[in-house]
Amino acid sequence: MVDLYEFWAVIVSLIVVKLCHSIYQWRNPKSNGELPPGSMGYPIIGETFEFMKPHDAIQLPTFVKEKVLRHGPVFRTSLFGGKVIISTDIGLNMEIAKTNHIPGMPKSLARLFGANNLFVNKDTHKHARSLTNQFLGSQALKLRMLQDIDFLVRTHLKEGARKGSLDIKETTSKIIIECLAKKVMGEMEPDAAKELTLCWTFFPREWFGFAWNIPGTGVYRMVKARNRMMKVLKETVLKKRASGEELGDFFKTIFGDTERGVKTISLESATEYIFTLFLLANETTPAVLAATIKLISDHPKVMQELQREHEGIVRDKIEKNEKADLTWEDYKSMTFTQMVINESLRITSTVPTVLRIIDHEFQFGEYTIPAGWIFMGYPYVHFNAEKYDDPLAFNPWRWKGKDLSAIVSRTYIPFGSGSRLCVGAEFVKLKMAIFIHHLSRYRWSMKTETTLLRRFVLILPRGSDVQILEDTKAK
Ligand code: HEM
Repeated sequence: MVDLYEFWAVIVSLIVVKLCHSIYQWRNPKSNGELPPGSMGYPIIGETFEFMKPHDAIQLPTFVKEKVLRHGPVFRTSLFGGKVIISTDIGLNMEIAKTNHIPGMPKSLARLFGANNLFVNKDTHKHARSLTNQFLGSQALKLRMLQDIDFLVRTHLKEGARKGSLDIKETTSKIIIECLAKKVMGEMEPDAAKELTLCWTFFPREWFGFAWNIPGTGVYRMVKARNRMMKVLKETVLKKRASGEELGDFFKTIFGDTERGVKTISLESATEYIFTLFLLANETTPAVLAATIKLISDHPKVMQELQREHEGIVRDKIEKNEKADLTWEDYKSMTFTQMVINESLRITSTVPTVLRIIDHEFQFGEYTIPAGWIFMGYPYVHFNAEKYDDPLAFNPWRWKGKDLSAIVSRTYIPFGSGSRLCVGAEFVKLKMAIFIHHLSRYRWSMKTETTLLRRFVLILPRGSDVQILEDTKAK
């Protein structure tokens, strides 16, 4: 009896010692030098719950602000089960963006993008970027995309005005999917297009989270939605290829290349690539545009100045007897609109915009950043009073006389930097400008209860409805 008791006492003691050792190791991760200060929180969970607390979307998260006060601009933590370095130092952010190339994300996201994704895979990354540039770079936008966006925005806003209201996020999402789907797939059967749009409704809010793919969790629903979407994309391409129907610019480019023997991309990789574009475009642009519309609505002087600019453009076209369709020159003449867009992107960038896995050990002053850790670079510089006077104020006029076409600088990184700089940046800016142009031609107002929050992802818990009416002056 005593023997059995002693046996269990030894087993329990061993478990306790092992547990204590694991907790000690968790709290004091191995490093070849001194790690940046910080805490790793609870085992596995780390500090995820504090990090994911919703906060005012135009303020940096309290979690980050408090840590910076306690530890300085660079600190360590643990999020979503991974070891993380958070940096608010612009010099370090730019350096990591330039020298590290693996995208930094929790496993749940990596799974979603696919192991052989052209963007994720080191060997195909450059090719994926150059392909994307062929149909989202400024030349392609100018020659082809502008007319499509102009037509779609015009049509959707007209429809909204007929009904008297419009949900900005939902409308933007529809426009983006219709616009990209057409570029990528060519004309689609209405049923397939409907199914593709429907897949987005299965994408849950909590897509940025833990890697557990267990029924009932956000990740599980997200993976299901992804598989469903991939199926629609694949079936559409196969049907079109079999019937000799025309594919969109994107598939023509890859399969054209393949026929000339330039590069071979499997159908699986191509659909994963398209999925990535749809996902990144749809998870960012609608919320950023809704936030921009909210900021405009809260600042009547900005709204008036926009109306003045866009009425001027329309008047000019009428006087010169030009067609109502927008041209690249019209877009380039929207100076104040571009100032509004730059300012909105600055102030809503309260999320890390440089996300990498550290691929080689890195020395930052006295600190060692180990290889394999996730790096999250926050654009803290956007809120630095030495760079931006009264940084929390939404003030588009601060951009007067600045280079409005630049998408990255040492004081401005809403689209990241380095080898993974956003490939959709030009497209987004064009899309936002055209939307603001047409909206300014209506009488509109956003519901006062609209709120802007961030839970890593930008959220509008009370929706993004605007009341919209035909303006008798608008053409
Ligand atoms: C307001 C909207 C958007 C914002 C704020 C945004 C922001 C970003 C950021 C911060 C990155 C990471 C850069 C880095 O790690 O250095 C990124 C990457 C990327 N974005 Fe965007 N993005 C937006 C819209 C879009 C759109 C519309 C598309 C596609 C049509 C897109 C496609 C991509 C892709 C494919 C990457 C990965 C690039 C690579 O790995 O080489 N984004 N974006």
